[in-house]
Parts: sequence; C-alpha cells; structure tokens
Amino acid sequence: MAALDIRLKKVNKTYREGELLAGVVVVQSKGELQHQGISLLTEGMVNMQLSAKSVGVFEAFYNSLKPIQLLSYTLEVAKPGKLPPGKTEIPFEVPLKPKPGKTLYETYHGVFVNIQYLVRVDMKRSLLNKDLQKQTEFIIEYKSQEEKAKPKLINFTITPETLTNVKEKQNVPKFKVKGHLDSSCLQITKPLTGELTVELCEAAIKSIEIQLVRVETCGCAEGYAKDATEIQNIQIADGDVARNVAIPIYMVFPRLFTCPSLSTNNFKVDFEINIVIVFADDHLVTENFPLKLARF
Ligand SMILES: *[C@@H]1O[C@H](CO)[C@@H](O)[C@H](O)[C@H]1NC(C)=O
Repeated sequence: MAALDIRLKKVNKTYREGELLAGVVVVQSKGELQHQGISLLTEGMVNMQLSAKSVGVFEAFYNSLKPIQLLSYTLEVAKPGKLPPGKTEIPFEVPLKPKPGKTLYETYHGVFVNIQYLVRVDMKRSLLNKDLQKQTEFIIEYKSQEEKAKPKLINFTITPETLTNVKEKQNVPKFKVKGHLDSSCLQITKPLTGELTVELCEAAIKSIEIQLVRVETCGCAEGYAKDATEIQNIQIADGDVARNVAIPIYMVFPRLFTCPSLSTNNFKVDFEINIVIVFADDHLVTENFPLKLARF
C-alpha cells in the first residue's frame, strides 16, 4: 500500500501572483515503492456555466464560455525509480506566473463563474498497480489593487413610492425606512456597515434582513447571460421593531464566495445587497444597492 499527499508550506494556502508555491510531495509506503515518474501540475482556471434560463438563448455564444486557463505549470518531481519504505518528502517550488496575457484573478467560488487554482500530483506506476493521484486547492489573492475604491456614503429612504420592483403599490402598507450605508465601495476584508431606522410603518414588521447577492455575467464580449443569486442572508431585526430607533447593519464578506468586483472581456462578477423588510403577513419589499468590492 502506498499513499500520496501534497503539503503546502503556507498553512493558509493563500498566495499572490509572482510568489512561489512551495511545499512537499509526501509519499508513504510500507515497502520499497517502484514508480514510473512523479509529476506535479499546477493549474488555474475560470469555468463558466450558463443558467437554465440562458442555455437556449445564448447557445450561439458557447465559444466565449470555454474555460479560460490562467496558469499552467508542469514539474517533474521524480524520475522513474524506487522510493525507500516509509515516508519520503520531495520538496517542490512552482512560480505563480500567469500565462501570457492573463492575470491571476482572485479565487472565487460562484454559481455560474468559478475561479479555482489546484495543484495535483500524479505518480505513474507499472501496469499491475494503479496510478496514484492527489490534488489540493490553493487560494489566490491580489496584492493591492491600483484603483483604490473611494469610500462612498449612501443615504437611502425606502417608501412604497421608491420601490421599483413592486407592481401593485396600493397593496403595500405605508412605511418609511431611512438609513445609510457607510460605503458602497468596500474593502473585501472589512465588513459592510451602516444603519437604518423605521420611522413609520402602518403594518407590523416580522423581520428585516440584508441579503448579499452575486451577479454573474458570462460571455460579455458577445452576449449577456446575467444571473443574480443569493450568497447569504442576515437578519438584522426580528419582530415589530421599535420606530425611530437606529438598527445597525453589519455584514462580513465570506471569503471564497466573494472576490473583488471583476470585469473582463468574457465574464463579470459583481455584488449587491438587498435590504428586505418582511411584514407580518409575509409580504416583503426589497431595495437593492450595488456594491464595489476591492482589495487594498
Ligand atoms: C447623508 O446624510 C447626512 C445626514 O443627513 C448628510 O450630512 C450627508 O451630507 C448625506 N450624504 C450624502 C452623500 O448624501
């Protein structure tokens, strides 16, 4: 029996473009281990997928939805030979340099857009033994973006009249919610903050929530397949809140499920928040605010 593993030097597995991905390939074997070569593949890919609603409409753009390879590097870790019984550690270093004309975008796990970096080790073996393989994900983050997002305070007032996504406004109870977001341009490492106050509401309130939404666009160059999906929902008030009392807004951006706002020729990733007010009868109203996320 033999086992293969990859251990990265950095415990948090987080790297920046230009750094070295350093680690060891660990081989464990009871007896002497014969192999036909050990290789290491380091790869970064953008994968795109059309939503069900876009498949028929955007089939013509399939070409612009091909996976995009950002990084690809193969390293021979060991030539065919024998390894001694027990544990063998073989160190490796891979330069994290993008392919020509490409950028190492930040790792992002989305629904229709995925940006992922993997390192995989393969041990080839003779015919009678199964090849061994092991892979692990590592994370890419930007150093610091040149374009620094200036903080931009957003004051808002939500009333039945300001709602653009409600058809029958006469069914909406009279209400007025005022507040602000400290900034709509945010450092991804810092929380979204602000506050809101229910100044008036004729109906009882059941809940107030903030929703983080990703807006993923595929095939930007030739066509648009744009989908918004919820990442997380945080309740900031429960029950029929006191009027004229400020309620804090606070949300931390979940790493991997968010990334700095990204716009390329082939895809885009944007983020928004919805402020959701749920009335006692379960009717709800939402107001949407686009965000700009950056790392600096
Ligand atoms: C937001 O409201 C505050 C207080 O009402 C005011 O001082 C500030 O100038 C407003 N800012 C913007 C950007 O509208």
